[in-house]
Amino acid sequence: MDASWKLRSLTRTGYSNLLVLAAAVTAVAAGILAGLNLLSPVQLPAPLNNDAIPAIFEPEPENPYAALYFYEEDKQERYEAYQAANPDLDADAVVWQVNSGLDGDFYSNIQIVADTTALPLLVNKYYQLPADYVPADLEKLPSGKLATKDTCAAYRAMSADARKAGLSLYAASAYRSYELQNRLYHGYIKQEGGNVAVVDTYSARPGHSEHQTGRAIDLCGSFGSLNDFIRTPESAWVSENCYQYGFIVRYQQDIVPLTGYKYEPWHITYVGIDVARAMRDANITCLEEYIVKYIDHQPPTAV
Ligand code: DAL
Ligand code: ZN
Repeated sequence: MDASWKLRSLTRTGYSNLLVLAAAVTAVAAGILAGLNLLSPVQLPAPLNNDAIPAIFEPEPENPYAALYFYEEDKQERYEAYQAANPDLDADAVVWQVNSGLDGDFYSNIQIVADTTALPLLVNKYYQLPADYVPADLEKLPSGKLATKDTCAAYRAMSADARKAGLSLYAASAYRSYELQNRLYHGYIKQEGGNVAVVDTYSARPGHSEHQTGRAIDLCGSFGSLNDFIRTPESAWVSENCYQYGFIVRYQQDIVPLTGYKYEPWHITYVGIDVARAMRDANITCLEEYIVKYIDHQPPTAV
C-alpha cells in the first residue's frame, strides 16, 4: 500500500468520524431543546370538560329528600337505608313512610298516644292507647253499640242519607275496651293455632285498636256480615260518600303493607269532615301519610 493511498484512507476515516460527531451533537441539542419545549409551537392547555375533571371535584349529588317540605334532617340516614331496601319507592314515599316509623318493624318503637283528644287520632301498630283509656263521651249508636259523641252524630247523618238512597247501614261493632280487644286478639290466636303473624293481619293487639278510641265503626250492609259487606251496594256508597260526614275507610286495599292490615272495607274511622275532605282532595288514602304531610308539617302556601 503506498503512502498516498494511506493518507487518503485516513482522511476519509477522519471525515466520516466528524460527520458522526456532528450528527450526535445535533441530536443531543435537539433533545435538549425539545425537552425545553422550544422547538414545538406554544401549546395551550386543552379546554376542560367534565370527563377530564378528577372525581374529587365532582359536584355533590343532590339530596332528593331534602327538597321535600316534610323532610326531617335527623332522619337522613334512615331515608337512605329505607330507600336501599325499597329501591322502587320515590323520594316522597321514602320520606313520609320513614317519618311514620315504617322503616321499623310493626309493634317496635311503640309510643303511648299522648293526646287522646287529637283529631284525627292516630292509633296504629306503633301508637298505643293506655290500657285504661276510655273515651269520656261515649253514646249509643242506633244499633246500641257505643261511639264518641261526634262519631255518633256523624254516623246518624250518614245513615239517614244512606236510607234516602234506599240503603241500610248497621253498626256491628264500634267502641271496644282494651280488655275486650285483648280477649278477641287472643281468641283469634287460638283459632289460628298460635299463628300470631296471621292474626296480626286482621286483628289489632290490645291498646292498638282504633275501636278503643270510640271513633271506629264496623259496618254491615244488607247481607248482615262484615265479610260480605264489599258485595253490598252499601259498601260502594260508603266508600264514595263517607268523607262528607267525616269518615274514612281506614284499611284500604292499596295500603295493606302500610297499615299492616288486610283490606277492611267495613271499618270506617271518624277523622272529622275537614280531614276526610282534605284526604280525598289530596288523593291520600293512608291516614299516616296525611298526618306527616298536613299535621306534622304543612305544605308551603302559594304566594
Ligand atoms: N280489625 C281491626 C284492625 C282491629 O282489630 O282494630
Ligand atoms: Zn273495625
